[in-house]
Amino acid sequence: MTILRLPGLIDVHVHLREPGGEHKEDYASGTAAALAGGITCVLDMPNTTPPTTTYARLMDKRQRACQGARCDVGIYAGASHDNLHELAAMAPAACGLKIYVNETFGPLRIDDATLLEQHIAAWPGPRPIVTHSEGDVLPLVLELAARHGQRLHIAHVATRREIELIVAAKERGQAVTCEVTPHHLFLSVEDRARLGPFGEVRPRLATPDDRAALWHYLDYIDCIATDHAPHTIAEKQSSTPPPGMPGLESSLPLMLTAVDEGRLTLERLIELMATNPARIFDLPIQPDTWVEVEIGPRERFGARPLHTRCGWTPFADLELAGRVRRTVLRGVEVFDGERVLAAPGSGRVLFGTAA
Ligand code: DOR
Ligand code: ZN
Repeated sequence: MTILRLPGLIDVHVHLREPGGEHKEDYASGTAAALAGGITCVLDMPNTTPPTTTYARLMDKRQRACQGARCDVGIYAGASHDNLHELAAMAPAACGLKIYVNETFGPLRIDDATLLEQHIAAWPGPRPIVTHSEGDVLPLVLELAARHGQRLHIAHVATRREIELIVAAKERGQAVTCEVTPHHLFLSVEDRARLGPFGEVRPRLATPDDRAALWHYLDYIDCIATDHAPHTIAEKQSSTPPPGMPGLESSLPLMLTAVDEGRLTLERLIELMATNPARIFDLPIQPDTWVEVEIGPRERFGARPLHTRCGWTPFADLELAGRVRRTVLRGVEVFDGERVLAAPGSGRVLFGTAA
């Protein structure tokens, strides 16, 4: 067995569901799951109820995160069909602008090319534009970002075609970065029958060839991000299962298992899960912050209790070699391998309140 110390990890794509979806997750439960997964900073998506599309809603969310969060949290602004005039006010307090170009869970979607271009042109930064831009819409998004000189981060790349388009854009010198999820690296359409509605997610689980392409082009991928998207077991078993799966607690165990198998180095894991996310989103250093992990005998991931409120994981049946033994945030032990010790409100909410 090997015991290692890693920096606190950063997950740039999580859905903490507050406000409006607290029965699935809230700041306190979602950040507990993050700490149990070795993640000390999360960036929270805007497709809540109501969505984070105005300065007032961003401030309300900030207030809730200040009270509930146990790890550090940045909050995304979301693009909507009627909020172009809000972007300048939201930008200084947001970790980025999220634009949903494809349909997914929640009401946010920009499916009009003119409006998409207006949002891309109007975002003042300094932090990036993040797009949910699957398949056919990806070339347009890349072109618009290049035309307006905007820094672009592509969420959850899932297919060979998408990663090859991004590789080509990077080779042209475009300022584009991207993330992949552990579920697209470890699962595929072949798992869909086994997982049933629990395997429903956007982007969908892709083919084994798509999955192989993500591993093949790993050198061009900037971040591992979970897209932690909790829904309750009852919702998933309903006649209209919402897409999404939790990932905060399984991400590091899965990636450490890949290190154990020689699929990537530990140095590369640290770049993908800490150094690159901090650089791309301009996140503050967390002093005295680290995660103690163990790589050892395999155990069934589902054998340990979870901290996410949704209470399930699509990885329960996998035998994983990696485990989080303890998480320390700013010198304080916040997870002891079993229990989360940090109180709600002890995390910091990033970026200023000033408009
Ligand atoms: O599967 C997904 N679930 N994909 C998304 O883009 C949104 C997410 C959610 O919020 O549930
Ligand atoms: Zn998402």
